[in-house]
Amino acid sequence: MNAPTSARGARTAVIAGLGASLPPRELTNAQIIDRGALDTSDEWITRRTGIRRRRLAGPGISTGDLATAAARAATEAAGPAAGPPDLLVLATTTPDRPCPATAPEVAHRLGLGPVPAFDLSAVCSGFLYALATAGALVRSGTCRAPLVVAAEKYSAIIDPFDRDTAPLFGDGAAAVLLRAGNSTEPGALLATDWGSDGSGSDLIAVAAGGSRLPAAAGPDRADRYFRMQGRPVYAQAVRHMTASAAAVLAATGWPPDEVRAFVGHQANQRILDAVADRLGIAAQHRFGNLREVGNTAGASVPLALADAVARGVCPPGAPTLLSAFGGGLTWASVTLRWPDAPVRTAVPEPRALARAHQEVSIP
Ligand code: ACO
Repeated sequence: MNAPTSARGARTAVIAGLGASLPPRELTNAQIIDRGALDTSDEWITRRTGIRRRRLAGPGISTGDLATAAARAATEAAGPAAGPPDLLVLATTTPDRPCPATAPEVAHRLGLGPVPAFDLSAVCSGFLYALATAGALVRSGTCRAPLVVAAEKYSAIIDPFDRDTAPLFGDGAAAVLLRAGNSTEPGALLATDWGSDGSGSDLIAVAAGGSRLPAAAGPDRADRYFRMQGRPVYAQAVRHMTASAAAVLAATGWPPDEVRAFVGHQANQRILDAVADRLGIAAQHRFGNLREVGNTAGASVPLALADAVARGVCPPGAPTLLSAFGGGLTWASVTLRWPDAPVRTAVPEPRALARAHQEVSIP
């Protein structure tokens, strides 16, 4: 059984700066309808999900480009006090290439030198898995200032003709720079609850492109795209986010009615409200930006957090709950004190695309 971990009363990781990057191109529900590729309506998308528009990266911008911009913004927001980042973890399920990981190139583009850099794959729970991992590395003294980045280009894996998924997802990235501090400071990470259930691995999946069904085998069109069985995922999301949030609050010693900020994975407003209602978190303490950016998968929690911190919706130090659920199946919840840290936004930083394949003559 997963036992929540808590940093109360101890040295812990503290958020020193936040960054966000959204591609400039916007796609509204009305534009989706106008394209005529989907049998759907603005009314259905808005009522069933809460989403009104999303951002799309387009062919010139990759996940790594979004990640680099968000990570640079978080580092600049934090200023010199946190010191230069000494580790980079990138949560993504849409890496620039299947191999190698995208994180080392992002670290290189940021000029971080030979720091450890790795991708972490936990779909929509990715940022909270990465935050929990980086927080533990700070607590153990393994690193001092990890950059936790979450970036996704879901438009690269979404079938534009699939009405079950195409209206839901958008592209974007966000990042936080952590530093060592103590658990009474604003921005201090306090407790984590995380878990998985691989028996549900087929509910959210891209079937092809891995070792089971390699891209080189020429998979069917349907297998090349992201697929989600929305109805069972909805039920599992409500169940696991509620249980995980309750567990992390208990480990922190906060009754749910003490929570002053709930930022959940921005998949569906009905899921977020069901979780918050079950926990007993009042409507005025729920924050998100689903309506404007849709579901940005692993990037959704930090994008929503950065947006809410920038708007100053909570006093520094306020009891804060983050919770997410995603493919795997995976889920995670983290408690922290509301950050007193600057937020910067940045436009994506396109790089000249390296040739993916060099022509090789085989004797
Ligand atoms: N437009 C119009 N009608 C639609 C659309 C659409 N885009 N999509 C489905 N419908 C129809 C269905 O065909 C169905 O019609 P029927 O009643 O005639 O059979 C009806 O709408 C209801 O379908 P449901 O699938 O039950 O719709 P639901 O209310 O569950 O909403 C949704 C679908 C939005 C996908 C929801 O199930 C959901 O949010 N699921 C969870 C998403 C989530 O949390 N994902 C986890 C993270 S994502 C990740 O890990 C990357």
